[in-house]
This record gives sequence, structure tokens and C-alpha cells, in this order.
Amino acid sequence: MARVFSGIQPSGDLHLGNLLGALMNWVNHQEEHDAVYCIVDLHALTLPKDPEELRSNTLQLAQLLMAVGLDPNKSTLFVQSHVQEHSQLAWLMECTVSFGELSRMTAFKDKSDRSEFISAGLFTYPALQAADILLYDTDLVPVGDDQRQHIEITRDVAERFNHRFGETFVVPQHVIPKAGARVMDLQHPERKMSKSEHSVNGTINVLENPDSVRKKIKRAVTDSDGEVRFDFEEKAGVSNLLSILGAAKGIPPSEVATSFERYGDLKAATADAVIELLSPIQERFADLQSDPAETRRLLQVGADKAREVASATLTRAQHNCGLLES
Ligand code: TYM
Repeated sequence: MARVFSGIQPSGDLHLGNLLGALMNWVNHQEEHDAVYCIVDLHALTLPKDPEELRSNTLQLAQLLMAVGLDPNKSTLFVQSHVQEHSQLAWLMECTVSFGELSRMTAFKDKSDRSEFISAGLFTYPALQAADILLYDTDLVPVGDDQRQHIEITRDVAERFNHRFGETFVVPQHVIPKAGARVMDLQHPERKMSKSEHSVNGTINVLENPDSVRKKIKRAVTDSDGEVRFDFEEKAGVSNLLSILGAAKGIPPSEVATSFERYGDLKAATADAVIELLSPIQERFADLQSDPAETRRLLQVGADKAREVASATLTRAQHNCGLLES
């Protein structure tokens, strides 16, 4: 059975980009594959965080992921800092990746441009991400399009380590969905939907109420030529709505376009589809939220399962690169 691994940062609410670009795929993979999913709290520390907020976001994200459909009986769900092997392998990865490779990461350039304090961790972030993936002998990594470069560097680092020290890691592949891989900001459709942009009207959160979803989609920026057509270059706003509707319904966006003649109808149908997608998630989240102790127990079980695989890989990597066994 192929092993699937992916991760998500506990940076507050989930948004529609996370859901359509990654999480719906995560849920599908748990049916057919050995799926391992990680809440990457150590990655979240690369930018300044309030400690209490980080702790509660981590627990809430676990509940949101389960509400979206991750089933801890089918997949392994855990918190990164609970499995120390991640930090330990990250050091070996830092010593395998080059300064030049890290300097070319667009995510670092974007985030460092927006931060006052640029931590060394923000720069070496891809080494920790490579460790996350490689620890689990991962075949497939389901992610949104913005993670493409991080998976490519993981492959390069795995191949380099294997070349230097002998077969140690499985070289993984990314899985990027056809629709929803790049959900854009509703107000600024040239940039991706993102929590960190602080674009309140451009971002739809998974916990958002139906009225607010409808309002935001109604106000989404389009263009003045009035033709419903899928063309991200020329018509970013309209194409974004088509991708959202297509991803929510499992239909290619260009096909969705043929059903609409007016922007107003497209917006109304997109809002209906998003509300229909979010409502059951919100109901399940309300139930799960009432029992945080059970969530913590499930995360503990997940961490124990994850550690079994991770410790074997770490030991192999440590041995192969010449560290003396204790
Ligand atoms: P993060 O937490 O930013 O996002 C989690 C997942 O959501 C996807 N995503 C989007 N997809 C489509 N449109 C958008 N606007 C959008 N915004 C986010 C992301 O592509 C991602 O799949 N570095 C990672 C976390 C990570 C990881 C890993 C991922 C750490 N270790 C190992 C895979 C494997 C990140 O910050 O994702």
C-alpha cells in the first residue's frame, strides 16, 4: 500500500484554499492508502506566535481536520512536536540542503518580505519539511500548488543523501489536485487565499456562517467584460469562482463555465456550493469541540503510531551518515 504524508500549520482558522487545495484530497487518500497527517506546530514557530494561541490553534485544528473527514481509525493524525524524530532528522537535512537552494525558495522570500523579524528557522524551514516527509518513507504528498517547490527540494535532498550515504530514503512525489490547487483571494484574485494576508473579505474560513459566505462571494472582484470563461491570465476573478465551484462539485472549471452566462448566477451557485460543503463540517466541529480530552487522546494514539515508523527511519539515516550508535 502506498504511503501518503502531508502537513498543515496551526495558524488559526482553516480557509477554503486549505480545504479545496489539500484537505479534500487528504480525506480521499485515507480510503486507499496508508495515510499519515501532521499538524506542523514546529513550522508555525518560524513566525512569531502567541504561546496560548498556538496551543489552542493546534487542538482546534485537530478537531477541524476530523470534522472535515479525517478519521483517526483510518489514518494517522498527530502533532509534529510530539514526535521528536522530526527535529532530529531536520538537522541531518539542514546539513544536506545547500544555502543556495534555500535562498531560492519563493515562500521564504514572500514571508521574509512581510516580517520584521526573520528567524533562521524561517530560512531552514524546507529542511524540517523534508524531514517530515522522508521520516515516513512517503510515496505521495497531497498538497496545494504553493507547496510544489518544497516537495521538489525534498526530492533533491533525499536523492543527495541516498547518493552520499547509500539507499536511505524513499523519494516522494507530490499530488496536486486538478481543481482547487490555487484558490485565490476573492478581493485580490492575483494572490492566493491566505490567512496571513489578513484579507478579511478575500478569505472564506471553514467556520464562516452562510450569510457571510454569501456576502463575500457576492462582493468578489470580477471584471467588466461580462463573459463567463475560464482564463486565469485574463479573467482571474471569474476563473477563481469557477475553480472554487468546480472543486466543490468535482467538475473541471472549464466545464462549469459552460453552465453560466451571467456573473450573478455564477456567484449565487458558487455560494450555494460552498455553503453546502461547509455546513456538515461546521456541525461535526461543534460536536468535537465539546470533548477536548478525547481529541488529545486521539492525538496521543496518532503520535505513538507515527513514532514507530519515524524512529526506524531516523536510526537508519543516523547510521548511514556515520553517527555512532548510543
Ligand atoms: P499550509 O499550512 O500553508 O497549508 C496547508 C495546505 O493547504 C494548501 N493551501 C492551498 N491550496 C490551494 N489554494 C490556497 N490558497 C492554499 N493555501 C494553502 C497548501 O498547499 C497545503 O497543502 N509548508 C506547509 C506545511 C508542511 C507540509 C509538510 C506539507 C510542513 N511539512 C510536509 C506537506 C508535507 C504549509 O505551510 O502548508
